[in-house]
Amino acid sequence: MKERRLKRLLVCGAAGFIGSHFVKLLRRTRPEIEITVLDKLTYAGNPANLAELEKTAGYRFVRGDIADGEMVDHLAGQVDAIVNFAAETHVDRSLLDPFAFVVTDVLGTGVLAEAARKHGHEVFLLVSTDEVYGDVAEGRSQETDAFRPRSPYSASKAGGELLAWSYQVSHGLPLIVTRGSNNYGPNQFPEKIVPLFITNALDGMELPIYGDGSAVRDYIYVEDHCRGIDAALHRGAPGEAYNLGTGTETSGNEVAAAVVELTGLDGAKVGRVMDRAGHDYRYALDVRKAAEELGWSAEVGFREGMERTVRWYRENESWWRPLRNGEYWDFYKLNYRPAEVQ
Ligand code: NAD
Ligand code: TYD
Repeated sequence: MKERRLKRLLVCGAAGFIGSHFVKLLRRTRPEIEITVLDKLTYAGNPANLAELEKTAGYRFVRGDIADGEMVDHLAGQVDAIVNFAAETHVDRSLLDPFAFVVTDVLGTGVLAEAARKHGHEVFLLVSTDEVYGDVAEGRSQETDAFRPRSPYSASKAGGELLAWSYQVSHGLPLIVTRGSNNYGPNQFPEKIVPLFITNALDGMELPIYGDGSAVRDYIYVEDHCRGIDAALHRGAPGEAYNLGTGTETSGNEVAAAVVELTGLDGAKVGRVMDRAGHDYRYALDVRKAAEELGWSAEVGFREGMERTVRWYRENESWWRPLRNGEYWDFYKLNYRPAEVQ
């Protein structure tokens, strides 16, 4: 497959979980690409995730907001492509504070699309999510399926995507979209199910299961997802979207069971809490297009990925301990309610 050769990239939101793995992957595999990271450093952005790259040649970090048109325009003028990871990303937080999601995930994405258009970029790669398809009762979502987002998070991601697609249609923006499934692995802020359950288990705390724990997700190891984004960036066709997942289904109960087993927590500590409002029961991706057109597929199975992830959190308490601070527990208290209150 022919690859495009990119020389200078602006990677937005790379102080977070997936973006930091992506930038580290690029540095290892394509050291000739100059990288500028733009990140606002919200609660989810952590300079420690990129510390090993500081002061290395061909890399720089800029603190700023993707919704800041002037700053984005300035940086976009210095590169030939943008990859956007920057977003508010947690469904539960989107239920409490939806407009932060609209500003970053819709407006911010629009600002980036506008800058990519203005500067005639080679590619604008938007990292999107399987959640734009909404709850999937049967079958698997294909890239051509309609959007049916059901949470303020997924609605904002869908809104940003639609705005970017409108630039592709109206202005010929060379847009490539990836729709990834649920990521897990090292350096994930302890609010999504996998790192929350692991850090709770290591602290001897209850693992809070929403509802009956039977809702399923397609859990993909973060490095597999990043290889898929790299494949889409270098081999994807402008105007195309690619689902990036494993094609497997794992319930919340199965995530809890894996964490109990791998951390040695007492299984009695798995507890039910009040269900998430509007909880999507199932996401499931058809991942054939990425395999056929990008030559990509996920390689790390759930068991292997969970072993690696639990080991990482055990060995890197100094990374996650400071994140479980006052603001974190304020959110925790607001979000988690006893099941009997339902
Ligand atoms: P994350 O929450 O760990 O990190 C988000 C990063 O974006 C942080 O560094 C934050 O500081 C930065 N950011 C937020 N608002 C910003 C703004 N206005 N300007 C600049 N930077 C800003 O997120 P993640 O889990 O790494 O997800 C990255 C991307 O991948 C998101 O677009 C998300 O929608 C998408 N995605 C995530 C998953 C998943 O399971 N985590 C799955 C599919 C797609
Ligand atoms: P989450 O990690 O928030 O990702 P998503 O954006 O896909 O909802 O949740 C994954 C699944 O785990 C989802 O079915 C909700 C469930 N869940 C719990 O049962 N307890 C929790 O504390 C969290 C955060 C999620």
